[in-house]
Amino acid sequence: MCGIFAYLNYLEPKSRREILELLIKGLQRLEYRGYDSSGVAFDQNESNIEIIRCKGKVQALADTIWNRDDIDLDHQYQIHVGIAHTRWATHGAPSDLNSHPQRSDDNNEFVVVHNGILTNYKDIKKFLEKKNYTFESETDTEVIVKLIKHLHETHPKMKFRELVEQVSQQLEGAFAIVLKSKHFPGECVATRRGSPLLVGIKTKTNLVSDHIPIIYSNKDTHRSNLMKTNSLVGAKLARSNSTTEFVPYDEGKVVEYLFASDASAIIEHTNRVIFLEDYDVASIEDGRLTIHRIKRNLDGGDSLTREIMTLKMEIQQIMKGNYSSFMQKEIFEQPESVINTMRGRINFDNETIVLGGIKEFIPEIKRCRRLLLIGCGTSYHSIIATRQILEELTELPVMIELASDFLDRNTPIFRDDVCFFVSQSGETADTLMALRYCKQRSALIVGITNTVGSSICRESHCGVHINAGPEIGVASTKAYTSQVISLVMFALVMSEDRISMRPRRSEIIQGLKKLPEQIKQVLNLDQQVLEMSKELYQQKSLLLMGRGWNYSTVLEGALKIKELTYMHSEGILAGELKHGPLALIDDRMPVLTVVTRDSVYPKCMNALQQVMARGAHPILIAEEDDLETQKYSKRVLLIPHTVDCLQGILSVIPMQLLSYHIAVLKKCDVDCPRNLAKSVTVE
Ligand code: M6R
Repeated sequence: MCGIFAYLNYLEPKSRREILELLIKGLQRLEYRGYDSSGVAFDQNESNIEIIRCKGKVQALADTIWNRDDIDLDHQYQIHVGIAHTRWATHGAPSDLNSHPQRSDDNNEFVVVHNGILTNYKDIKKFLEKKNYTFESETDTEVIVKLIKHLHETHPKMKFRELVEQVSQQLEGAFAIVLKSKHFPGECVATRRGSPLLVGIKTKTNLVSDHIPIIYSNKDTHRSNLMKTNSLVGAKLARSNSTTEFVPYDEGKVVEYLFASDASAIIEHTNRVIFLEDYDVASIEDGRLTIHRIKRNLDGGDSLTREIMTLKMEIQQIMKGNYSSFMQKEIFEQPESVINTMRGRINFDNETIVLGGIKEFIPEIKRCRRLLLIGCGTSYHSIIATRQILEELTELPVMIELASDFLDRNTPIFRDDVCFFVSQSGETADTLMALRYCKQRSALIVGITNTVGSSICRESHCGVHINAGPEIGVASTKAYTSQVISLVMFALVMSEDRISMRPRRSEIIQGLKKLPEQIKQVLNLDQQVLEMSKELYQQKSLLLMGRGWNYSTVLEGALKIKELTYMHSEGILAGELKHGPLALIDDRMPVLTVVTRDSVYPKCMNALQQVMARGAHPILIAEEDDLETQKYSKRVLLIPHTVDCLQGILSVIPMQLLSYHIAVLKKCDVDCPRNLAKSVTVE
């Protein structure tokens, strides 16, 4: 939740206008993470920081900035630090005052942008109130800068980085923070614990190394007792051993740094990035980046350097192009995104599959006691969609879990369990917490994510990148279809040496081969789905019915409709109809039913008859060759036939289109539905 963006130019002259434009653009790229309010902090003059914040989307902030006539936009800076934030409210309603940057005092001595939640902010607030600090916002974030100011006043010689190190050790919960201060002009400090943060480096000359050394700040990991003792007793700050530092770029030359919650905001400036890890403190002083660590790894496997990675992402991948929204673009990208998921992995000629990221672990996985698959929202639906094929091809017990419920239950986990964590963003807090819970119990951890360098990626023992490309729209679409394919590929890998399963594997692999063309065919239904949406968009509710391979499809369809159109929608397992939901049916209740020619076809037809007997006129999603089923309704969306375990990939697409069109007709914000955020980094 929330997007952080910061920009530092060192010896690269920039006007205030250019800096503000850059900050606003960065926020717009991150807006999917939260969009109820936003703000920026930049230098007003040599000794003061200006903060501009406002409720609403980033455009409202931009309008506020450009309408101010008291800002000299042409003022030039050789060195400057600007920080910016787009918010998804957790503590305190969206308002100008609750927006970030949050400040230490009326003089804006220290300012911070924060993504995450501090669980102990009340204790810190109480401590600071006793020291006569007053608070102006309802946020948890404000305590960070007030505590830093307090520490600065009691220890005026401390460096900016040391202040942040000390204060971050007092914070509990999840956070990524970036700070600037009028006492430390031209400096910027950032740290993270649980929330993502990366640093982009842009230099005019080539980097001389792909690594940056890490400096371990504390010899041990004892927390300083700053709040209890009001002093730094116990805080063993080591001074950095600068003689051993090695800088991967020409010192004293032009360098620009960008901090962001994710790479989409950085890629247009540079593709050289460092993914910060929990307990890293990145600080920039005199144009020079250093990374300190305030905690050693328990297993002693501490890295000595952080790698400067080269992002492969192209800027076009995150641009909307000719589409009206990212979601629409992402729906229409599916013929290509599914190819990218399979590219280099499936050999359709000899019907073999190699998943490089888990190859080495397959023998261990084959010996396991059971497979657990854990995720949230759409990612969870991809798990439901593939459970049956996983059971069939792996012949292992497969447990599927919603991450939040899994944690609530303190589920027993054993060292011979294999736990899959499925997440588009790789940052979902519930999923990440569940991962850590299983890792502590020595299970093998497999990450299935779409985001290279995400926390789930890094904390897994092995994994599969679904390679769907950046998904910006809050509603997950192409990630779902790629997650399903990734899990199906895993099931195929697990069964490769089973002779009895050869015909089944072959059928699925050939099904996968045809999928991109079939998806294109389904996307041609767009106009027809728009016409249906016109009939439906003023309804209060829409019931979606399916079973077997299509149960997950209707759950996913209903989630899309709820989140995008704010209309009530329920995905009903057709077999459960008679156990309650049938009471909802009459001639006015809109129903959409998925009926495909698989093993549960007769049962689906029974359910269809049952609703029709109660006066309903269902819309059908059926197979194009199934002339029999088509007779049951005048409103039928015809999709091609594929192998049963892949059919849901084709039947979910009309639902994605339906939710998109209804949202547009209802004038809802397609890419940024109300109250939601793309990356749910709070529990
Ligand atoms: O990034 P993740 O896949 O872990 O996200 C999980 C859910 O928050 C996500 O799928 C959510 O349900 C989508 N907005 C649904 O479209």
